[in-house]
Amino acid sequence: MPPPPVTVAVTGAEGFIGSHLVEALVAAGHRVRAMAQYNSFSSYGWLENLAPDVLDSVEVVLGDVRDPGSVHELVAGTEAVYHLAALIAIPYSYRAPHSYVDTNVTGTLNVLEAVRHLEIPRMVHTSTSETYGTARTVPITEDHPINTQSPYAASKAGGDRLADSYHASFGTPVVTLRPFNTFGPRQSMRAVIPTVIGQVAAGERIITLGDLRPTRDFTYVKDTAAAFLAVGTAPAEAVVGRTFNAGTGGEISVGELVGLIGKLMGVELDVTEDVQRIRPANSEVMRLVCDASRLRAATGWAPAHSLERGLEQTIGFFRDPVNLARFKTAIYNI
Ligand SMILES: NC(=O)c1ccc[n+]([C@@H]2O[C@H](COP(=O)([O-])OP(=O)(O)OC[C@H]3O[C@@H](n4cnc5c(N)ncnc54)[C@H](O)[C@@H]3O)[C@@H](O)[C@H]2O)c1
Repeated sequence: MPPPPVTVAVTGAEGFIGSHLVEALVAAGHRVRAMAQYNSFSSYGWLENLAPDVLDSVEVVLGDVRDPGSVHELVAGTEAVYHLAALIAIPYSYRAPHSYVDTNVTGTLNVLEAVRHLEIPRMVHTSTSETYGTARTVPITEDHPINTQSPYAASKAGGDRLADSYHASFGTPVVTLRPFNTFGPRQSMRAVIPTVIGQVAAGERIITLGDLRPTRDFTYVKDTAAAFLAVGTAPAEAVVGRTFNAGTGGEISVGELVGLIGKLMGVELDVTEDVQRIRPANSEVMRLVCDASRLRAATGWAPAHSLERGLEQTIGFFRDPVNLARFKTAIYNI
């Protein structure tokens, strides 16, 4: 007889990475209590697109991480909590910084409090490579200084520090995963890869973008989901109380990326610069390259998708007119 399925909670489950993580958790035999942010449309976001046999193992709960009671109910009785809910757009963090603190700092505090008081055995907290700022040394290890160049990065670092403090002060069994840029099907048009692919899929050949110089380490979303699962299920002594980078170690500039996507989609692309998409000079993170050797040593995780293979999957997704119709390719999505 196989062991009974373990129930885990996921915040931000209806989002891009969250929906792929829910699929990975169910494939690994878990039952998932999935928080989608409360909204008046009763929308479950990307969870609505999951296969019926996956959804059989998912209980969707509308709620809000800013509300402690909502978080308490979500996590009660679970064996692990994957906390992904966040406001994530950097440009919007210039406009609405208070909401970033409420969601990313106070929201994380609410999850930590619930995990602490309900004695949940494992919490995975989600950080971001943006907390490092422009690389001072490459590849970036977890010992690289934190340099928060945007309100988004600062709010995520605030959540990270709370997670560290809860482990130090109360022994809360939290592990922090720090993904580098993630891409793939379902990602919103705020990110560069869907912006380029989406515009091409919609018939554009002159692509509107911001700065072409910054370099990033792009990880395919199924590999990022596997990294979450790896730190969520590894023996406690290997991961709890620690922070782990997740990324490929590869590096490509935005300009080179446009060329690669054009090649894979079989089109010649020109780029036009849109000033509203350019970050303030000191806020732009010019270079991010991951050293994930700590994660590999602790869990055996390694990315299984090359950039080209991941881009092909993503292109296939956006070329489907049903999927493309869910995005606004003609506007600047912040
Ligand atoms: N996409 C990347 O490249 C990347 C890289 C590093 C880290 N991350 C982190 O991964 C996590 C998931 O990001 P994503 O790319 O899937 O973005 P996303 O916007 O698709 O997902 C975030 C989800 O959080 C939900 N949410 C926002 N406010 C909430 C609230 N108050 N209560 C409950 N839910 C709320 C949103 O509805 C959304 O579904 C975030 O924590 C983000 O900071 C993302």
